Amino acid sequence: SFYCSLHPSMRGTLLVTGEPGAAPKPPRFEQALRVPPVLSGSNITIDIRKASVKVMPHGPWTRMWTYGGTYPGPTIKRPTGAATRVTFVNDLPTSAGGLTVHQHGGHHSSADDGQPSRYLIRAGARRTYTYPLVDAGRPERASFRFYHDHRMGVTARNNWRGLQGMFLVTDPREDRLRLPHGAYDVPLLVADRSLTTRNQLTDPFPGPDMRDWMTGPHAPPNDATVGTKILVNGQFAPYLRVKPGRYRLRILNASLSSAYDFALSDGRPFVQVGTGSGLLPHPVVRQDILLGPAQRADVVVDFRGRRDQNVILDTVPRSDGVAGTGTRSAAVMQFRVRGHAHQRSHVPDRLRPAPRLPVPGKVAMTWTFDLTDHGDHGSFWSINGKKFDPQRVDHRVTLGSIERWRLRNASDVTHYIHLHEEQWLTVSRDGRRPPPWERGLEDTWRLDPGEYVDVAARFTDYPGVFMLHCHMLDHEDHGMMAQFEVVTPTRAYRSD
Ligand code: C2O
Ligand code: CU
Repeated sequence: SFYCSLHPSMRGTLLVTGEPGAAPKPPRFEQALRVPPVLSGSNITIDIRKASVKVMPHGPWTRMWTYGGTYPGPTIKRPTGAATRVTFVNDLPTSAGGLTVHQHGGHHSSADDGQPSRYLIRAGARRTYTYPLVDAGRPERASFRFYHDHRMGVTARNNWRGLQGMFLVTDPREDRLRLPHGAYDVPLLVADRSLTTRNQLTDPFPGPDMRDWMTGPHAPPNDATVGTKILVNGQFAPYLRVKPGRYRLRILNASLSSAYDFALSDGRPFVQVGTGSGLLPHPVVRQDILLGPAQRADVVVDFRGRRDQNVILDTVPRSDGVAGTGTRSAAVMQFRVRGHAHQRSHVPDRLRPAPRLPVPGKVAMTWTFDLTDHGDHGSFWSINGKKFDPQRVDHRVTLGSIERWRLRNASDVTHYIHLHEEQWLTVSRDGRRPPPWERGLEDTWRLDPGEYVDVAARFTDYPGVFMLHCHMLDHEDHGMMAQFEVVTPTRAYRSD
């Protein structure tokens, strides 16, 4: 009997569910892109319920689990420093089990973090999460976050079914830069799904849920869930009418496992102005942008000079010979450049410097990501040799301190590692200065086999337990998650 045993032949393979072998035909771009509704009040209530969503241009709508009846859920848009309370009501059937909502990229108390097995929202119940949008007494940086389900063992399933939405924090200081705004600022949640011929989601997670696999003699069926269709804001192959001007696109890869290497069909570059965690110090011109699960890019695309043309957002195939790092070729969405733009946007050379942080020379904690062999129990994804256990804290940090951590991939597939609670400086990648697009703040890093990244942050405001994990959600569900605890100085002293 084993838990999350990966047969060698299965390692790093992408288990495509539904329509096996279907060659991707170029889509026809038949539906106009929807932008999720925006909620911007200080007290927001979102009902978690089943709803039908128009995913495909033709045929039946797709039944999903939704935040507020749409997929993606409503985009929460709030000015920095403005306390925000979001109440989630669980109106899913009891069989869905308890839920928990995590604001990815946020800084808030442990109880408001969407703990995987505590503070659950049971069927019929509700829970209010409080997000102060303040860090050490100062308004947080404007950033492009998202919120999603985080229930232990079934995070992959719950996200696949639709429990995902975007969360934007705005800042008047950023608004003064005159980056494209209003209708010229479009959030794009990109995520793959497989559908049946009746346009219904396939179920890559049959049988007992992952919590049973943690203890039972079952092999999980899926370790890298990949869908056959790439959706943007919940729609297959949408188009967006744009003017021949500059657009700010906030791209989130909300897939369970897939990475995408985005490019534009006419060869024009993206000007990357930010990560999901705020502006970069300087804009970076990029021909393609690789985003793995939970990674975000804030880019400006200039459609001037392309009037009456169509530009396609593609993902381009990329294979560097390492398992799990490949991306496929697909046409994701279309921009129809029409009419005239009347805008006064501008991308300045200096955006926003990274925060100054005295980075310690010494690594306080090394987190090693691997597949650990447990003999008769098989092997499973692990961090420092251990699979996730909500009762165990793996590292303690003193509130107010700055630590440098090393994230190290000792396995033979790529992982995308996410740290909760703080926003991090990338100090180095494989011992070298990180590339220009990693010189802002981050919360999720790509780690190829053998790679290591050093990151640093100050732990502010909230003592408590927080998570770190692989954001390939099957890996997370299969144990690649750990906990750190921020402790007050007195408590740290006592536990020494
Ligand atoms: Cu986006 Cu711990 O999650
Ligand atoms: Cu992983």
